[in-house]
Amino acid sequence: MDSQRFMGVYIHWPFCASKCPYCDFNSHVRERVDEDAWGAAYEQAIDHYRALIPDREVVSVFFGGGTPSLMKPQTVERILQKIRSSWPSGQDPEVTLEANPTSVDMGKFRDFRSAGVNRVSLGIQALDDESLKFLGREHNSAEALRAIEVAQSCFERMSFDLIYARPGQTSDLWGRELEQALALARGHLSLYQLTIERNTPFYMRHSRGEFAIPDEVEGAELYLLTQDITERAGLPAYEVSNHAAPGQECLHNLIYWKYSDYIGIGPGAHGRFLLDGRKVATRDHSAPEIWLERIGERGCGAHPHEEISHAAQMEEALMVGFRLNSGVGFKDFQERFGTHPLELIHRGNLALAVEEGWVNLSDTRLSLTREGLLRLNSLTAFLLLGVASAQKKTAGQSTSPAV
Ligand SMILES: C[S@@+](CC[C@H](N)C(=O)[O-])C[C@H]1O[C@@H](n2cnc3c(N)ncnc32)[C@H](O)[C@@H]1O
Ligand code: SF4
Repeated sequence: MDSQRFMGVYIHWPFCASKCPYCDFNSHVRERVDEDAWGAAYEQAIDHYRALIPDREVVSVFFGGGTPSLMKPQTVERILQKIRSSWPSGQDPEVTLEANPTSVDMGKFRDFRSAGVNRVSLGIQALDDESLKFLGREHNSAEALRAIEVAQSCFERMSFDLIYARPGQTSDLWGRELEQALALARGHLSLYQLTIERNTPFYMRHSRGEFAIPDEVEGAELYLLTQDITERAGLPAYEVSNHAAPGQECLHNLIYWKYSDYIGIGPGAHGRFLLDGRKVATRDHSAPEIWLERIGERGCGAHPHEEISHAAQMEEALMVGFRLNSGVGFKDFQERFGTHPLELIHRGNLALAVEEGWVNLSDTRLSLTREGLLRLNSLTAFLLLGVASAQKKTAGQSTSPAV
């Protein structure tokens, strides 16, 4: 991906009908949302970025949340029109919208398609009523199946999310649920292990011992089983939690993991893009009302953007690249950053990781094995130990807030 020219656009819609007890995403429940004001604010923010980086081509747009399927299709259309009139887009940009499988949201699918959405990602989470109730979802299993059907009749491309490693979920139970999901899937699935996040009702209930989730060993078993079953079904993982048939990978997600450019608009959204040859990071204010106010005052909801030092860019690119099953290609990395990635990796730790079977190392690339991806965070820290952070410290002296 030519990061000098192509970019993705992420639009964050921060509202949900209710808050799921496991979720720590930036999502809020409000009695009333003034969609006209929100539509106008997204348009203004797009103007801001268009003035900042005019010479771009948009290859993907992703409406994430929160629950963007709560938006009126007219609001989605308005934002997409503004994006189209601000930058040229390739022949067939990918336009994804995250949707919840309630009847109200489903009723809008055709209008979302007319508005320009060509891919939906459904938050199915589980295929049985008891689990959906435990997860505090607003839909039941019949609605989940119906939503998959409606989405498939409206969109050429669709994916759905499931959360596994739920309380009491044995390999046998998960294996059966996953087979059922694969029979329903069309080319793409996101499969997340349930994590207990701080500041969520699940965190409290879990720490009070009200429920237990599979331990590390059981979780690892479920993860490995997931890889076996999806691979056999022709939907292998291309990233830790994302599975696709060849060619059906989500382009927008690949932009993140290949460290290409994207702008992020909406409360709490992040962006990473080249500005006058320097890579900058943006982070929008996360409180919805403050974000809206900021846009009104300054036309932009982001904190001042920060330049990312060359060393930090290389470290970030490795960190996201390790998530991909294809890993990090040496030639691309060297061409982009002028440094061979192996120079940034702790030699002794790498040798150990290869010996343990956590890393595949060839003449052209480095990737984590399944066993390596299982311990992604600790292994990343282990591989990048010392070398990159030492460089960062030196280069950090030249890091300054850009604007
Ligand atoms: C932004 S959320 C989803 C969008 C949509 N609002 C929904 O819930 O269907 C993206 C996905 O992250 C996953 N997720 C969120 N919190 C999680 C957690 N604590 N553990 C595992 N997966 C989680 C869910 O599968 C969810 O669909
Ligand atoms: S999981 Fe989705 S629907 Fe539930 S609170 Fe989080 S963003 Fe909203």
